[in-house]
Amino acid sequence: MSASNALEQIELHKALAPRYAYRYSFEFSRLFQEDWHREMLRLLPEKSERVLDLGCGTGFFLAELEALRPGAVGLDISHAMLRVSEQYVPGARLVTADAERLPFRDRSFDAIFCKGSLHHTRDHVRFLSNCARALRSNGVLIMSEPCNDNFLIRWARAAMYRVSKHFHPDDKGFTKTGLVALMERAGFEITYAGRYGFFAYIFAGFPDHIGILRWVPGNAWIVRRMLALDRWICSTRFLRILSFQVVVSGRPRRS
Ligand SMILES: C[S@@+](CC[C@H](N)C(=O)[O-])C[C@H]1O[C@@H](n2cnc3c(N)ncnc32)[C@H](O)[C@@H]1O
Repeated sequence: MSASNALEQIELHKALAPRYAYRYSFEFSRLFQEDWHREMLRLLPEKSERVLDLGCGTGFFLAELEALRPGAVGLDISHAMLRVSEQYVPGARLVTADAERLPFRDRSFDAIFCKGSLHHTRDHVRFLSNCARALRSNGVLIMSEPCNDNFLIRWARAAMYRVSKHFHPDDKGFTKTGLVALMERAGFEITYAGRYGFFAYIFAGFPDHIGILRWVPGNAWIVRRMLALDRWICSTRFLRILSFQVVVSGRPRRS
């Protein structure tokens, strides 16, 4: 990662840490996040023991990982984010570092999760190659990243990233085929590529930005219905392009 991008990401996420704590403080938004986590966790092989959450942020996902696989490790470039993680996940090992320079021995982990951190970096292949090296032979990388397949979403995301001080203008989403290609270039064999999130992503994902559900009675019930609808949308051939996230997993190819 360029030193200037690293510093800018640290600065950006310093301001975001309290917002994330607020974001996850509503039952309806936690319902959404937990559903998103399940979508990633179902790709975790049963036998995997050592797991890493790369770009763990305030630790909301890491807390689930730690409950499932005690001794989970969370890494983030932002110390401010990790200070919130300490409260959520007192048992986990937290490491402040740049994902483009992983401070772990080769073949240290059975699974690496990456929920929304790759698009903050600039050398994606290097980031992913580091993951391949840090995984054991049968290990798996499980990612969820912003999906830009739909031109409306691509446009809205680019506009928001440019205008809002809570985003970095150089961060970009991926197309599904683009992310798959990056992983293959970094030495992964793809084991799953799918899509996630539409209505619940918009209305329950970011109450710090789109807060309308905070004021609606029965918001948890509404989010459950949205999640069911989103699952249907993401399984439908002509509608799944609407998804906001792409979920991809892969195993390192060993020669
Ligand atoms: C969109 S947030 C997602 C946080 C968390 N995974 C979640 O779902 O709540 C992205 C995270 O990636 C971290 N990040 C950005 N660039 C990074 C890098 N080069 N190395 C490690 N973490 C990075 C940020 O500090 C931030 O916590």
